[in-house]
Amino acid sequence: MRKKIVAGNWKMNVNLQQTQQLLTDLIEEANTYPSDVKVIVAPSFTNLQTAVQQLENVNIEVAAQHMSEHEKGAYTGEVSADMLKSIGLNYVILGHSERRQYFGETNAKLAQKVSIALANKLTVIFCVGEELENRKNNTHFDIVTQQISEGLFHLSPVELDKIIIAYEPVWAIGTGETASPEQAQEMHAHIRNVIADRYTIGVADSVSILYGGSVKPSNADELFTKPDVDGGLIGGAALKADDFSAIVNAR
Ligand code: G3H
Repeated sequence: MRKKIVAGNWKMNVNLQQTQQLLTDLIEEANTYPSDVKVIVAPSFTNLQTAVQQLENVNIEVAAQHMSEHEKGAYTGEVSADMLKSIGLNYVILGHSERRQYFGETNAKLAQKVSIALANKLTVIFCVGEELENRKNNTHFDIVTQQISEGLFHLSPVELDKIIIAYEPVWAIGTGETASPEQAQEMHAHIRNVIADRYTIGVADSVSILYGGSVKPSNADELFTKPDVDGGLIGGAALKADDFSAIVNAR
């Protein structure tokens, strides 16, 4: 049985004081969260340590929004997996479409990041998803297959167990346009089949696959009840404690 996961990606929206306030608001609501849902928030690098400290003994985990593909060295401005681990993090988001689009993160580079994250005992939330153009010309399954195979298929079955996949169609991110529950289910089932072909049905069945793209309290229920949708990666709605908590509590 896969555990439901709801992760909030705060992107570059929240400064230190706002982070502390948002966490205070979330902590007030955290006692309403079902025990079978894993809740994760991803503030910016500058606020990660504060978040780890503020969430000590709270049932909310902290993730970084990305990290370097290098272990250490002369890479000005970069943050390593070891640095994240050293402040108490257990999760990192890799391959978000904004990182792929604006910061040149290729599948090959992401494969390196994934390996370094796992070597440092970080669980990876690995994002995939097609652009509108791909969906229009019916190449969306191929694009996502390629992102999964080039980014993850160098891993052993045991390593793959430390990966959470987030399917985020780029055309649904921050646009208010959500993939329909049927479109999400169809792609999640496809991803599971691709993993089963490379590994085993057992491995595929144990991988959590989250949906991301304009998830709101009003559409979370119908998305999360689809059999292959194991939760969500939430952007805009994660910036409001009430909305995020309503999504955590969606069934
Ligand atoms: O990482 C989160 C996704 O990009 C979704 O963002 O909920 O604002 O569409 P959104």
